[in-house]
Amino acid sequence: MVGLPARGKSTIAGKLRESLRRDGIATRIFNNGELRRRLSREDTNYPEFFDPRNKVGAALRQRYAVMNLNHAKTFVNKGKRKRKVAIIDATNVSPKRRRMLSTELPENRVLFIECINNDEEILEQNIRYKVQTPEFAPLSVDEATASFKKRIQYYEGIYKPLKKERNFIRVDSFNYRILKEEVNGGLPFVDRIRDFLVTPFIKNLYLVRHGETYYNLEDRIGGDSELTREGYSQAGELRDVFRNKKIPLIFTSSLKRSVQTALPIKNAQQECKILSFSEFNEINAGVCESMTYDEIRENMPNVAAARKRNKYYYEYPQGEGYVSMEERIERGIKKVLYLSKHSDSIMMVGHRAVNRMVLSYFVFKRKEDVPYIYVPQDSYYHIAISQNRKVFQLKKFV
Ligand code: F6P
Repeated sequence: MVGLPARGKSTIAGKLRESLRRDGIATRIFNNGELRRRLSREDTNYPEFFDPRNKVGAALRQRYAVMNLNHAKTFVNKGKRKRKVAIIDATNVSPKRRRMLSTELPENRVLFIECINNDEEILEQNIRYKVQTPEFAPLSVDEATASFKKRIQYYEGIYKPLKKERNFIRVDSFNYRILKEEVNGGLPFVDRIRDFLVTPFIKNLYLVRHGETYYNLEDRIGGDSELTREGYSQAGELRDVFRNKKIPLIFTSSLKRSVQTALPIKNAQQECKILSFSEFNEINAGVCESMTYDEIRENMPNVAAARKRNKYYYEYPQGEGYVSMEERIERGIKKVLYLSKHSDSIMMVGHRAVNRMVLSYFVFKRKEDVPYIYVPQDSYYHIAISQNRKVFQLKKFV
């Protein structure tokens, strides 16, 4: 692995190990930082330890890098099994460090995977996660954040992107996109790995629509209406369905009906956080907000007719269409995928149009069919995606 801290290297390494193992390939991760934390008696967590001008720090890090590399070599060379992968999980940002790896290992058997993620918001979230790990336990959150950011700066100082290495793939780990690839033949599993890098991975996503609202009763669209008694009772049923499942994260929109549906579930869980993103707010109906469908047909027949003709591409005056939600929904989903990387099961409480867009991100649908996907208020979709498993199921609460 190659990349600055907090760019998703360890997450990719962990999932890649899972994916390769499922293919019968013995795979192990060798993490420089973990070795350092485990073996060093002295404090190695202060930022200046990572200053390249700090000779003592640099020598110690080099020592752990060599030790880790030797562990990896022993693993791949030992025993009869031929299908083996050692993942060296470290920043490896300097060409010198990478030359050492290429020299010490058979060069045509080394693939460098460089992780890039320059999304400020995601980076901040990642840093927030990192500073909660035991490594930073003695520090306050602010001190730990400052310390970790300083460490990143030191790495930035010596970071040289991959260029001359024989085999490499540079991946945008937030967008599941390969940015550059140089693979010179003879490397096993590389197709499998490339495919892995561009496949969103989601263990269990439960996609729910908010419960019934006062606006729903009148067939009124948009707004920020609250749940009715029936809506709360649906939320209660949902809570019971998930009572014995761990749901550590629930993603909602920033609208009341979505958060109100999520709260009973959160309260019944031992550990659960609600993260509200405006990316998942319901389609903005512009001048038609808070009107009923009948009122639109009567008072704005042109709007109703134009929308009926081409529902996906039609944009409400001063509002959105399905087409204009694409970007924000995609961004929201990527945030969900990124932030839920440590959780087996997550939930999203969205809205009718939003959930249609979310579903169409995971299952191919013709655009013209998307605005008609069935999104009832008494059922949820279970979605699971990996290279080997694809699940889409609509299940009733009771
Ligand atoms: O009626 C509920 C609702 O979520 C509205 O707020 C929204 O405008 C509508 O559904 C979206 O569905 P459609 O695109 O079918 O009108």
